[in-house]
Parts: sequence; C-alpha cells; structure tokens
Amino acid sequence: MLLLENVHPVAVARLREEGFNVETEKKALSEDELCERIKDVSVLGIRSKTQVTRRVLDNAKRLMVIGAFCIGTNQIDLKAATEKGIAVFNAPFSNTRSVVELAVGEMIMLIRNIPDKSVKMHQGIWDKSAKGSYEVRGKKLGIIGYGNIGTQLSVLAEALGMKVLYYDREEKLALGNAVKCRSLNELLEQADVVTLHVDGRESNTNMIGPREFELMKNGVIFLNLSRGHVVDINALRENILSGKVAGCGIDVFPEEPASNDEEFVSPLRGLPNTILTPHIGGSTSEAQENIGYFVPAKIADYINTGSTSNSVNFPNLTLPTLKDAHRLIHIHENVPGVIARINRLLADTGVNIVGQYLKTNEQIGYVITDINKAYDKEVIKALRKVEHTIKFRVLY
Ligand code: NAI
Repeated sequence: MLLLENVHPVAVARLREEGFNVETEKKALSEDELCERIKDVSVLGIRSKTQVTRRVLDNAKRLMVIGAFCIGTNQIDLKAATEKGIAVFNAPFSNTRSVVELAVGEMIMLIRNIPDKSVKMHQGIWDKSAKGSYEVRGKKLGIIGYGNIGTQLSVLAEALGMKVLYYDREEKLALGNAVKCRSLNELLEQADVVTLHVDGRESNTNMIGPREFELMKNGVIFLNLSRGHVVDINALRENILSGKVAGCGIDVFPEEPASNDEEFVSPLRGLPNTILTPHIGGSTSEAQENIGYFVPAKIADYINTGSTSNSVNFPNLTLPTLKDAHRLIHIHENVPGVIARINRLLADTGVNIVGQYLKTNEQIGYVITDINKAYDKEVIKALRKVEHTIKFRVLY
C-alpha cells in the first residue's frame, strides 16, 4: 500500500493494524514517478494534489482500490478506474462540521459588522457604536442546499435561536423546526441571512446572480462556502457596493490560485464588511483526523468483505459478514448475460449458492456470490475466464 501527500498518522496506524504493508511519502508524486511506483501497489492513498491519470492506471497492474483522503475526486480519472475495476473511496462527510462552524462564526461576525470594525481598530480608529449591529437570534436563516452541511447548520442555527428556512431541489426531511420553501424565490424574499450549501454540479453555475440578489431583503448577509462558480461574483460585488448586501463571507471562488505562491485575484478584494477566506471551510485538524479514520475503514471493508458502501465509482453494496462460506467477488463490464453465465457455471459444477448480491452502474456490474465451502477449484478458473470479466477474487 502506498500513501502519498502526508496522509494523517491515524490512517497509517489504522492500516498497519489491519495488516497492510504501508509505504508513505510526504509529497505528491509526478505522473512519471507514480507510473513507476504504482506497478506493485494494491492500494493507493492520495489527497487532492496527486493526479491519478489513465496513464498512471495503465501501469497499475495490481491496484484494487484508491482512497482519496479528501472530499473531491476530480484528481482521479474515475472512468478509467471503473473500467479497470478499481474501486475509489473518499471522505464526503468528514469535514462537514468544520464548514458549519465557520458559517456560524461568520454570520455572527458579519451581522455585527466586525470585519470593518476590526480593520478600523488596526488603523487606530475607535468607532464605538451600535449602528448596523444585530443579534442572529430571531433572524431568518435561509439555507440553500439541505445536504450534509445544510442540515447540520440547520440544527446549530436553531440552537442559536434562529428561524431556519431551507430550499433543496430534492425532497428533504426538515430537521427540528426548519421550514421548507417550495421555491428558491420564497427563501430569498424572506431570509435575513442567505447561505449556500449546494453541490458543484455544472447546472448550478451562477445560480445566484443579479435576479436573485434583487429578490433578497435589503441588508441581507450572504455566505458562500460551497463552490465558487455557483455565484455570479460581479453581481455580488455590485450588490455589496450598493449596500443591498450588508456583509458577506466567501470561502470559494470561480478562480482560485493553484498554490500558495500565486496571487489571489478577485473583484471582491477590498470590499466593505467582506470576509474572504482561502477555501478553508473544511480545513481543520479534526476534519483531517476524521478523514484518517473514515477512509481506512472503507478500504479495509472493501478488501476484507467486498463492501462498497459510499464508493464514488462502484455500485454501492453493503454486505453481511460471512460464516462457513466462500465469497466470490466478480467485477465485469455491464453487458447483458454475464450473471447468467456465472450462475450457469456454478450450477453445472454443483456449487451451492448461499447468497448472491448484484448491483450495476453504467459502466460495470458488481456481483458477490457466497458459496458453500466444498467446491471444485476448477470452477474458480472457469469463473475467471467468463467473458467481459474485469477482475475476480475469492475471499476467505
Ligand atoms: P450534499 O451533496 O450533501 O448536499 C448538497 C445539497 O444541495 C443536496 O441536498 C442537493 O439536492 C442540493 N442542491 C443541489 N443543487 C441545488 C439547487 N440548484 N437548488 C437547491 N438545492 C440544490 O453536499 P455537502 O456535503 O452538504 O456539501 C455542500 C457543498 O459544500 C458542496 O458544494 C461542497 O463541495 C462544499 N464544501 C466546501 C468545503 C469548503 O472547504 N468550503 C468543504 C466541504 C464541502
């Protein structure tokens, strides 16, 4: 197993406890370096910098699973990984609390006008006044996108005494006393604080633009800690300058520097009551540690039981633990007839099937067959040869 990019020590410890032979590297490897190192690796662990391209995967003859010790998986060629029967896991919820805490902190700071007051103090200006300062208690918080982050924020905001409204494109259960809005407009017209927690799908590009700002209340507080392209940044700038938006906290931008050495360029620089942060909503020690526990558990589960729950690219199957049986794990191209061929082979050799689980996605089929202990070894050879097989392995 090869773990790159200084993955959290708890992950290394967990995986060694599981019996993996773990090698670590502090940095990401270049494509050429990785093409060489990957040859004998069964499990690869990366964070966001390592590019796992098709060329890398072509060299990965033994690779079974990739653990992305982060949220995003854009750095991995998922299509190629799936074609080659390599399961990919990430840590989609491990940093949600960190994002929620930042959102809570920012809305309290912004509704009190603290960013401007702090700047003035550093300039030696003592501006003691209650003008334009409010409590969040009793205010309406409008959460757009009621997923992992939106729902947690909903709970914490209610604990602060806020009234929570939410809008989601899918049917979502309201937590606590939160009120579901039937449309985005309904939310925008009522909320004192608008906060975005939608995912980064293409169709969400500029979902908040001039029309949406127009609908918002005068003096609204606006937060975006989701994805940069979701907000029309120039429209936001105009609405801050006009005073329509009384304060904003922005953590994500349509264009973000690729490294800490690059200058951050944005029309939002220098605006009043504006908190700008460098995409660190989810970046805390606790989140890194959570990821360090979460991803190894997924990897171990996949290797030891075949379970793919929460896999990014494999059909998700959660499997029961097995007693007195063998488990056959078969990954194949999603074309008709493969499962029939597998079962015909098993029937012809008199193998007794104890349980069978199948799930497919567009690219592959994932079939788990638990069989009675006594079986003819020849059947395994025959199963490997079933047409359209990508990978096959036997557990226990
Ligand atoms: P999630 O997938 O659990 O929730 C997203 C929700 O938004 C879903 O319920 C979905 O139905 C809804 N949605 C999508 N498009 C919508 C639309 N047009 N209108 C209304 N609802 C819509 O995602 P999660 O984990 O809650 O993350 C939310 C966002 O936060 C993501 O964009 C993620 O990339 C970002 N994020 C940012 C971090 C940071 O460092 N600033 C760290 C972690 C996540």
